[in-house]
Amino acid sequence: MLASGGGSNLEAILAAGIPVAVVVVDRPCRATELADEAGVESELVEWNDDRLDFTHRVVDALERRGVEVVAMAGFMRILDKPIFDAFPGRVLNTHPSLLPSFRGAHAVADALEAGVKVTGCTIHVAVPEVDAGPILSQEAVPVLDDDTVDTLHERIKAVEHRLYPDTIKKFMESA
Ligand code: GAR
Repeated sequence: MLASGGGSNLEAILAAGIPVAVVVVDRPCRATELADEAGVESELVEWNDDRLDFTHRVVDALERRGVEVVAMAGFMRILDKPIFDAFPGRVLNTHPSLLPSFRGAHAVADALEAGVKVTGCTIHVAVPEVDAGPILSQEAVPVLDDDTVDTLHERIKAVEHRLYPDTIKKFMESA
């Protein structure tokens, strides 16, 4: 798994019994602590302003553990072509909107600002273009009148915590 933040999707994936070979993070974050607690290896691959070099180091960290499927969850770095060459069609991502709406790093805030009444989350196969690639599953989440970015994102995450593990399991079974 690749993570940069709270690690709540990692927690859900571990709780679902999906075998995680390594958690790669680009910064110190809670995901590392969760990996430690679960007895899963983690590795910090520090961002160095060189996307190609960074990608190669991430791929190396994954290949050293014999990873078969890569799952990004809140990984806030854009990766270059080598990861898609190393794991063709096997890099997954969860995004907090109904793609193709609201791509990018501020999907929840953008949905609120647009005034949509329904948003949601999307699990998809990642490709070099950001927040694009074949959609595996989606689920709608209503936007409430008094929602803030935080309340809406928490409701979306609650759905991701069920949908992402279910989708990964189905993906691995069919691979
Ligand atoms: C998730 O909601 C994920 O969809 C989102 O970050 C959150 C990570 O939560 N990803 C993006 O916004 C990517 N642009 P977590 O760290 O608690 O799993």
